[in-house]
Amino acid sequence: MTILIRNGHIVTATDDYHGDILCEGETITLIGEGLNVGDDVEVIDATGKYVFPGFIDPHVHIYLPFMGTFAKDNYGTASRAALVGGTTTLIEMCCPNRTEDPVEAFELWLANAEGRSACDFTFHMAVSRFDDQTESKLRQIVDRGIASFKVFLAYKDFFGVHDDELYKTLRLAKELGVIVTAHCENETIITELQQRLLADGKTGPEFHEPSRPVGVETAGVSHLMSFAEATGAHVYIVHTSCKPAVEVALQAMTRGVNVWVETVIPYLVLDSTYAEQSNFEGAKYVMSPPIRSADHQDYLWNALRHRLISTVATDHAPFDFAGQKEMGRGDFTKIPNGIPTVQHRVDLLYSYGVCQGLIDLCTFVDCASTQAAKLFGLFPRKGTIAIGSDADIVIYDPECRGVISAATHLMATDYSAFEGWPIEGRSDTVLVRGRVQVRDGQFVGDVSHGQLLMRKPTH
Ligand code: URP
Ligand code: ZN
Ligand code: ZN
Repeated sequence: MTILIRNGHIVTATDDYHGDILCEGETITLIGEGLNVGDDVEVIDATGKYVFPGFIDPHVHIYLPFMGTFAKDNYGTASRAALVGGTTTLIEMCCPNRTEDPVEAFELWLANAEGRSACDFTFHMAVSRFDDQTESKLRQIVDRGIASFKVFLAYKDFFGVHDDELYKTLRLAKELGVIVTAHCENETIITELQQRLLADGKTGPEFHEPSRPVGVETAGVSHLMSFAEATGAHVYIVHTSCKPAVEVALQAMTRGVNVWVETVIPYLVLDSTYAEQSNFEGAKYVMSPPIRSADHQDYLWNALRHRLISTVATDHAPFDFAGQKEMGRGDFTKIPNGIPTVQHRVDLLYSYGVCQGLIDLCTFVDCASTQAAKLFGLFPRKGTIAIGSDADIVIYDPECRGVISAATHLMATDYSAFEGWPIEGRSDTVLVRGRVQVRDGQFVGDVSHGQLLMRKPTH
């Protein structure tokens, strides 16, 4: 299949120009002005629209056994939702708990995705235990194209690693050239604060944030920085929510620690008042680290604009309100942590970032696509519009106006954290490796078109 995208406003992380893009098969083969093609070529008129590289979400959970339940999406629902929202590549956290074998877990996560994903995908491999077998198993997984690990400094005795295991994971990662993504919170302080709050009768979702204050996250980041410094490993802090945590990472960066920072869209657009809503409504906004007070938002947008924060992901972790979030009525520590967002990251970042003048278009593309491709071994195959790159393309209509609602979203959850929010723009047409998967904002594609992306260590 050959497709010509005509007369679009092409924006990458570095360039902003008008032109035509020829996609032959799965690849971009020509970029120019006024390209002529035969009648057998499908022409998509992109006049008045932006043409972006396919967006990459570097932090999602789809299959997730967690907090006594399972995340609600599967690849069928999540990948279609992602695509309609302009995301063409998902990096899922493959999260075995401490009792599970990593290779078996990798096979399970892969089986859930292969042949069932409408968009391309890969995994960060979580290391939740490091015993005598772990090193050879992780080497096998890296040989199968997985070039990043994940560690949790929270969720003790479930996903969480002990310090000796953290050290061994980072040392191996350094040797292999694999980057380690990390959830940074101090679990000991969380447990103590949770117990104290519950003992005082403070059981509602509004007490989730006080049980995990900024100091808990900052302590986690500081801890990771010490281990990264000692091992020389390259590390990536996931879902960074607040000013002091970013500052600790930046201080480490300036003394030579190889660290990159991710934030996620909920922290940029939501504040702690959402989790403080009455009638247990706040449970919809419980995630970890928690949504912070509004003053942190200004800092995060600023750090994003100055490219101190590399990426904006979602940490998509979808749980229904009915039956799942409700497990925590009367005890906030039992509310499954996570917010469903995979469909709306790009639109929220565009509407509440670009349209508000907080970031420019190139920064938008950089933090929602290009940096993830570079950090996780996908660039220049993904993350840009260039000859030879995969034809993953989003034709974005800045004139479209919409409203987010659970009634219309494609995610499997029964609620949206952004119910009724207006959106300025939408992904009109989305190509994945040269195939039109979304047209007029509707999924029209093949639900099994997505492929596992083989990655080589690059760090
Ligand atoms: O609240 C969150 N973030 N849920 C998903 C699991 C994780 O910690 O990323
Ligand atoms: Zn996490
Ligand atoms: Zn996560």
